[in-house]
Amino acid sequence: MDTQVVIIGGGPSGLLLSQLLNREGIATVILERSSRAHVLSRIRAGILEWGSVEMLREAGVGARMDREGFVHDGTYLTDEDQMVHIDFHALTGKRVMVYGQTEVTQDLYRAQDAMGTTIVHGVEDVRILDLDGAQASVEYVLNGERKRLSCAYVAGCDGFHGVSRKTIPEDRRREFERVYPFGWLGILSHTPPVSDELIYANSPRGFALASMRNANLVRCYVQVPLSDKVEDWSDARFWDEFSRRLPAQAAERLVTGPSIEKSIAPLRSFVSEPLRWGRLFLVGDAAHIVPPTGAKGLNLAVSDVFYLHQALSAALKAGDETGIDGYSGRALNRIWKAMRFSWQMTTMLHRFDGEDSFAAQMRRASLRHLAESETARRDLAENYVGLPY
Ligand code: APR
Ligand code: PHB
Repeated sequence: MDTQVVIIGGGPSGLLLSQLLNREGIATVILERSSRAHVLSRIRAGILEWGSVEMLREAGVGARMDREGFVHDGTYLTDEDQMVHIDFHALTGKRVMVYGQTEVTQDLYRAQDAMGTTIVHGVEDVRILDLDGAQASVEYVLNGERKRLSCAYVAGCDGFHGVSRKTIPEDRRREFERVYPFGWLGILSHTPPVSDELIYANSPRGFALASMRNANLVRCYVQVPLSDKVEDWSDARFWDEFSRRLPAQAAERLVTGPSIEKSIAPLRSFVSEPLRWGRLFLVGDAAHIVPPTGAKGLNLAVSDVFYLHQALSAALKAGDETGIDGYSGRALNRIWKAMRFSWQMTTMLHRFDGEDSFAAQMRRASLRHLAESETARRDLAENYVGLPY
């Protein structure tokens, strides 16, 4: 065999899985379609559950996160000018870490370089073969030349548009999907945050999120129609709309500045089952997508990696295949609960075009219930900080 595990995709899922396997003495090769610079230019979410924080430390990539990340004890949900504080730490004993996915990815690349792992960038036409034989193989084209690697297992960490999921025959896959009729327009700006914690704002004009990366770098979003283009949104228009959706006491503190990144992302809930097909395993966005409202995307990828690295390690080091047989069921059990939470947060906080008058009242009642019931707040907090693995 050329290597023990071929990992398709050098995003956070593939890199973290490789790092954990390498630390247990298991050999991997990562095949990534894009350049490293491109992977590291993508701005994604920035909230880590405590379980993710611990996993990154365990993988030996926690040092910069612990130095530069910010621990948050809670968050705000708002209904017009009413702010509901969810005190994660008082309600669950846990906290979250504010640390951008781009930084996590960079830390993982550095650690993998130090480990000497082969990461091949610029691969094309990846084909995953022989999944029901004694060993699997992966073919790809690099600089016009077709290559082939043999391995024991293949990890499909290649995101929503990758080849791994599509390698499972269509009639053996079940896909579950909800596409939401709006997107998030996000900007990054070197300005101070309006609040010490994130604000998820429900307003009659639609949803807004005030997030941050550090004391002078914010990530802010507004819900926009899917037909909108980034060019429709000057910085001035963005800040004006954003401030109108925030509660007055937060809007008063808003400092605006030029955007250094601006993009629109659609919102989708998606799950493909099963996560295992012979010697192939799906991980992270290759298998599931959540709308960003609960900050679960990266965190779900981390819990998939947790289950899969345990399973692969037991199979490759001790010949025990119970973990790989159980991977799909174990991971999906947690995935579906995060799907529910992300859908619920999205429904509670967004205005749906053409909705009836009842819908807005339901959102307001949900937020009032959160304001008045500690039980409701604890339920939200328990899900936000991350359900146990
Ligand atoms: N061959 C090789 N690499 C591929 C292929 C392919 N055919 N298709 C896609 N890739 C690469 C992409 O270029 C990307 O770098 O796979 C990587 C997948 O990375 P992500 O999309 O970031 O997915 P993942 O690693 O699962 O990260 C978890 O959860 O909600 C999200 O924002 C969150 O991106 C984060 C994700
Ligand atoms: C972000 O900071 O980009 C972010 C934070 C929380 C979310 C989504 C995105 O729920």
